[in-house]
Amino acid sequence: MTEEARFAFGKNWQSFLAELDDDRIEHAIGSLKQLLGVQTLEGKRFMDLGSGSGLFSLAAHRLGAEVVSIDYDRFSVACTEELREKYGSNSGKWEIYQGSVLDSGEMQQLGIADVVYSWGVLHHTGAMKEAISNAADRTRLGGIFCLAIYNDQGGGSRRWLRIKRCYHAIPVWLRFLWVIVIAGYYECKFAGVRLLRCKNPLPFGDWREKRRDRGMSAWHDWVDWIGGLPFEVAKPEEIVELLRKQGFILESMKTVGNGWGCNEYVFSKAEN
Ligand SMILES: C[S@@+](CC[C@H](N)C(=O)[O-])C[C@H]1O[C@@H](n2cnc3c(N)ncnc32)[C@H](O)[C@@H]1O
Repeated sequence: MTEEARFAFGKNWQSFLAELDDDRIEHAIGSLKQLLGVQTLEGKRFMDLGSGSGLFSLAAHRLGAEVVSIDYDRFSVACTEELREKYGSNSGKWEIYQGSVLDSGEMQQLGIADVVYSWGVLHHTGAMKEAISNAADRTRLGGIFCLAIYNDQGGGSRRWLRIKRCYHAIPVWLRFLWVIVIAGYYECKFAGVRLLRCKNPLPFGDWREKRRDRGMSAWHDWVDWIGGLPFEVAKPEEIVELLRKQGFILESMKTVGNGWGCNEYVFSKAEN
């Protein structure tokens, strides 16, 4: 196993697409509207960096934006193309490219956007700060930059890094079992906590919440979370400071406190 081990995000997204339905799409649209505080993206250019399944590119497309989707993984690109083919309207403009946020030349060719969206991506590039800076540069003056970055839990994050490295060190046929063991362990732990709080210990409520939140699937999130390398983390203040130096103003932020998962940020790019 080397530091360069890379999780097959696109294959996981291909499997997720088999579960995609109108209900999940509506939840994704709702969550994007809520995150951006808008009802429509008509007349806006939306750049989805690390489009993954393509679900949020589709959400922006449905909200009327001109969309540009980019992903490093060719299977993610194929997923996004599949969604455009299946659910996109002919009238809307939606371009899809394979490329890396780390390639500043390629990024410059994409131009700038009113909304740059990169959810759960830049910490998976292997050079998070450079990726954040490149992504931020794609935002037009007065535009919006939304990103979600894994929370730095200190020891907890280092433990997760070991779990992920183990996933990549074992034979491919054992990885499914590794996901079952780790996810099973944590689901049991969560069930215990729910029981102590006199709540129903079964996980179905949490899984439904995940679906309602961003249209995601609990199983595919576990696979992504347990296999997802490269992996970096950051405390909210680090992200805010990094982007402040690039001329961004924090508009809103949703953090996970001391917990795991992503902190979500919405910045605007100062006009002067
Ligand atoms: C966890 S998924 C997030 C997908 C999507 N943004 C979402 O919110 O569902 C991370 C995605 O980032 C992509 N990615 C990783 N490194 C990248 C890079 N350097 N440039 C562009 N995309 C990258 C992966 O291929 C993967 O599809």
